[in-house]
Amino acid sequence: MNEHQLDLAKEMEKEKRDELSRMKKQSQSVPSYKTKKQKMISDEVILEVDNLHVQFSTFGGSVHAVRGVSFNLRKGETLAIVGESGCGKSVTSNAIMGLIPQPPGRISEGRVMFKNQELTRMTKKQMRKVQGVDISMIFQDPMTALNPTLTIGEQLTEGVRTHTNASKSEAKEKALDMLRLVGIPNPQERLKQYPHQFSGGMRQRIVIAMALICEPELLIADEPTTALDVTIQAQILELFEEIQQKTGVSIVLITHDLGVVAKIADRIAVMYAGKIIELGTKREIFYTPQHPYTQGLLKSVPRLDLLEEELQPIEGTPPDLFSPPTGCPFTARCPFAMEVCEHIHPTTTVKSSSHQVDCWLQDERAQAFRNELKV
Ligand SMILES: Nc1ncnc2c1ncn2[C@@H]1O[C@H](COP(=O)(O)OP(=O)(O)O)[C@@H](O)[C@H]1O
Ligand code: SF4
Ligand SMILES: [Mg+2]
Repeated sequence: MNEHQLDLAKEMEKEKRDELSRMKKQSQSVPSYKTKKQKMISDEVILEVDNLHVQFSTFGGSVHAVRGVSFNLRKGETLAIVGESGCGKSVTSNAIMGLIPQPPGRISEGRVMFKNQELTRMTKKQMRKVQGVDISMIFQDPMTALNPTLTIGEQLTEGVRTHTNASKSEAKEKALDMLRLVGIPNPQERLKQYPHQFSGGMRQRIVIAMALICEPELLIADEPTTALDVTIQAQILELFEEIQQKTGVSIVLITHDLGVVAKIADRIAVMYAGKIIELGTKREIFYTPQHPYTQGLLKSVPRLDLLEEELQPIEGTPPDLFSPPTGCPFTARCPFAMEVCEHIHPTTTVKSSSHQVDCWLQDERAQAFRNELKV
């Protein structure tokens, strides 16, 4: 880079910082809104992730798995985090839950606020009081969350009794209510059964019941339907929607499959190489995607109006997070890459109060660099 380009880079960095702080103020004052289904989303922000960085020390060096992720979530809202495998989705959600193994991992920068409490400063003991009570998490494989040697009833009531001072019979009543809520038939009988006596879909319903039994305000679901077949997947997603309507719980839904979120997300954050590269309402992401990676993801989602051969997977692989690129991490795969993309990370462009994107195509100053198209 020559001197002029360096000056320009510095100026852009400063503008990016100013823009981010402006956006933060703006997003905190976004008024409550109604979704198409007339679901009311409050303006109360319950979760705020601010410039989160997570690194892992390995024999091969340091892996910078999450590189400055920021987003917030309002009461009663569902935010989907979408991106290819390895982009940092699980590390982000584990960091919120205080589940990063330290060592080898560490939160090297940033913070997570949950209802005015800074989770990233809490001790393990303080965090245990939040886990399962205020914030619950559901993982991809229901068997990892269930104990094969205990009945469903024992497992459900154990959660309530550990975290509240409910009596045995109150805990049992609560367990029955939960099984009804997640649509398990004959709950009285089913309480006495073991996990292996349930189908995969039913087991995931039980895990959801366990996650909700202490009435958390936030539910983080990490690929909750990936292990299930398509029909059951749709039923579980419907269940999330129903539960949200009944309980008002806020949901972070993590998935590699943009098709999954079409049904239940209110907003979508698209992650790539440890960063959120586009964030918007479901409408904005599906109808006016701005980032070439989001556009690529949408072209690779099966749709009723497309034949199978019209689906276009995104060619190439994401960058190595041992030494992440200084420029746009999508450069090597992007059909629109310009010279500036290789050298400087794009600034964040705000398209609307809810839509933001990190791509030089959105920034007219990119023309100040020699505009050499790669292809
Ligand atoms: N315990 C760990 N040690 C080293 N690297 C890790 C560890 N956990 C995750 N990573 C790395 O962090 C990156 C993001 O992983 P992850 O968040 O699990 O991706 P995904 O988006 O598929 O959920 C990957 O490159 C992964 O290899
Ligand atoms: S910044 Fe450049 S390389 Fe990155 S997505 Fe935009 S055009 Fe493509
Ligand atoms: Mg994952």
